[in-house]
Amino acid sequence: MTTVLITGGSGRLGRSVVAGFAAAGHTVISLDRDSLPADPALAGVTQESVDLLDAEAVNKVMARHLPDAVIHLAAIAVPFSAPEDVILKTNTMLAYNVFQAATSNGVRRVVTASSPTVLGYGNPSGWLPDSFPLDEKTTPKPWNAYALSKLVAEQVMRMFAAASGEATRYAAFRPCYVISPEEWEGAPTQQGHTLAERLADPALSAPALFNYVDARDVADFLAVLLEKMDSIENAQVFFVGAADALAIEPLDKLMPDFLPGSEALAAGLTGTSPAFSIAKAQEILGWTPQRSWRTELTDTNTAGLRSAAAL
Ligand SMILES: NC(=O)c1ccc[n+]([C@@H]2O[C@H](COP(=O)([O-])OP(=O)(O)OC[C@H]3O[C@@H](n4cnc5c(N)ncnc54)[C@H](O)[C@@H]3O)[C@@H](O)[C@H]2O)c1
Repeated sequence: MTTVLITGGSGRLGRSVVAGFAAAGHTVISLDRDSLPADPALAGVTQESVDLLDAEAVNKVMARHLPDAVIHLAAIAVPFSAPEDVILKTNTMLAYNVFQAATSNGVRRVVTASSPTVLGYGNPSGWLPDSFPLDEKTTPKPWNAYALSKLVAEQVMRMFAAASGEATRYAAFRPCYVISPEEWEGAPTQQGHTLAERLADPALSAPALFNYVDARDVADFLAVLLEKMDSIENAQVFFVGAADALAIEPLDKLMPDFLPGSEALAAGLTGTSPAFSIAKAQEILGWTPQRSWRTELTDTNTAGLRSAAAL
């Protein structure tokens, strides 16, 4: 059993990550401005209300708990949900403060949440990758402050790794569009619509290139990552996504409608293939997502969709 400190534990992704580590028998501390919701899955978790922009407060709480591992999830998580300069300053300073406090307090493993948006898709001035599927070698071309802040957070990780040698192990992960357990039952997603609506109208999922991941699969990924961090190359980045696309139609048919000029590039995305590769996490960590919209969606409004997808 280890002590895991999770920032942003009250959030959409954080709740499942906190619940996953608590269920596995770890001592879990959640650092968040907001309280944890009342949920039996979160029982026994210590909640610390801290503004992570306050470096001294972060340092104090880190020193008090001296966790074995830190998972940094807290952020302004939605592009354009605040002024651009606020998103950039907030997310980069949160990452810096958490890395700084963890490193100076001798935490052995530190992981931060990045985002697939670092790649730059959705750019109104146009964007095409060199190839599909997208992976960790795809060149990042952020076009907004949120995507840039996540790329900076990855660089913050590399800076601390360069300065610390091998004393602390670091990693970053880019979770695809996170679906929390209640969203399979019809609760609104991050963009306000339901999953049923997102599947029925490909235009809703196209801005994220039809990517998604179950929050519990992210929790499983993080558990495997923490276990293996000592034996893999330091300061790596991983995409974390579902093994299929969040779409009824194959992406070789859908992608060109939403990403002009991608006909040839997307030709290999047949069947249920997603646009984002998770091969690196599978090969290096042996992690594979266990959940798909095809198995998890229980929203009663999806009967038509399920028959369209021949489920
Ligand atoms: N949800 C997604 O689809 C998605 C996709 C890619 C990456 N991410 C990243 O994953 C992480 C978690 O995302 P989420 O969807 O759970 O976000 P969320 O907004 O639901 O949760 C973020 C949490 O961080 C906390 N927080 C923000 N600023 C804080 C501060 N100054 N001090 C203390 N707490 C603070 C908030 O109170 C909130 O509970 C974020 O870093 C986000 O950028 C999310």
